[in-house]
Amino acid sequence: MGPHRSLNARLGATLAIAVLLLAACTGDGSGASGAAATDGGGGGDAGGYPDREITFVVPFSAGGPTDTVTRLIAGPMGEALGQQIVVQNVEGAGGTVAAGQVAQAEADGYTVLMHHIGMSTAPSLYEDLAYDPLEDFQTIGLVTEVPMTIIGAADFEPNTLEELVEYVTANADTVTYAHAGIGAASQLCALLFQDAIGVELVAAPYEGTGPAMDDLLGGQVDFMCDQTTNTTSQILAGDVKAYAVTTPERVESLPDVPTTEEEGFGEVQVGVWHGLYVPAGTPDEIVQALTAALQEALTDENVIETLAGLGAAPVSEDQATPEAHTQRLQEQIDLWRPIIEAASAE
Ligand code: MLT
Repeated sequence: MGPHRSLNARLGATLAIAVLLLAACTGDGSGASGAAATDGGGGGDAGGYPDREITFVVPFSAGGPTDTVTRLIAGPMGEALGQQIVVQNVEGAGGTVAAGQVAQAEADGYTVLMHHIGMSTAPSLYEDLAYDPLEDFQTIGLVTEVPMTIIGAADFEPNTLEELVEYVTANADTVTYAHAGIGAASQLCALLFQDAIGVELVAAPYEGTGPAMDDLLGGQVDFMCDQTTNTTSQILAGDVKAYAVTTPERVESLPDVPTTEEEGFGEVQVGVWHGLYVPAGTPDEIVQALTAALQEALTDENVIETLAGLGAAPVSEDQATPEAHTQRLQEQIDLWRPIIEAASAE
């Protein structure tokens, strides 16, 4: 399995991506098509589920934003289900290794995947994807919506987004940006940024933005675009430079960080959505138990406060359902396919 070569070299060559990413971020894609065939699970009896430990698979490295959100909800979800939830990080290929593994797991509710926007972009990005996001998975519900930030190493010369643009334009061959693999949110955001400024930069790929953040803090890479769930503490501590948030409004937990729009790059608008999945064929009763536990976890005070402190928010109860989740996934697949195919054909 490998990403399309031309796309690997440069994805997102059109300004249209900016507009569509904004739609993606708000879940307002024009390709809405209703719930897909996987809704409803495989029927059958939950049979006392769960009677043992459940594993949540995270498709990126420990310590990164997807891992953070997963570990945050695993506690209250485990409490709601009356069983412990363990978190396992299965890194690689922009999250597709983990998704492929969960697609092959027993459809018994004991192996659950947490994934983000990358679930919808992978079918267009990877030629021989080992799974179909709609056919091979049963959705449980959406989890969070998370803004992104453009940040730089503490000793990286530029101090503002305008200075960053000037600097990277003048030093395109030497400036490096970190991302978490083809299809990762950090990659899409960085490509959108490059498209907006018309400059192609040198990518430093990681298996998650947890380790990418370590190297940014160490000055081994110059900048990256990443979710506020991974960047807020470092920004507030002054350990990295924050150039902009990629949302239309400022983020409450980062009141001093301007939006890309304020800085003259309003087309760089990116948001990340997360959802939980089990293998297709999982009995309805198990799906319902997981959805109910998710909905309970999203009302947990600690979950709400922690996410707010990190610039994010849980979705509303009506979005933490298989139907809403499948609709978002379908919309996003439809949204991204033509963009990615057009970029691949260049
Ligand atoms: C991404 O860029 O998609 C994420 O930051 C990946 C991660 O959770 O590490």
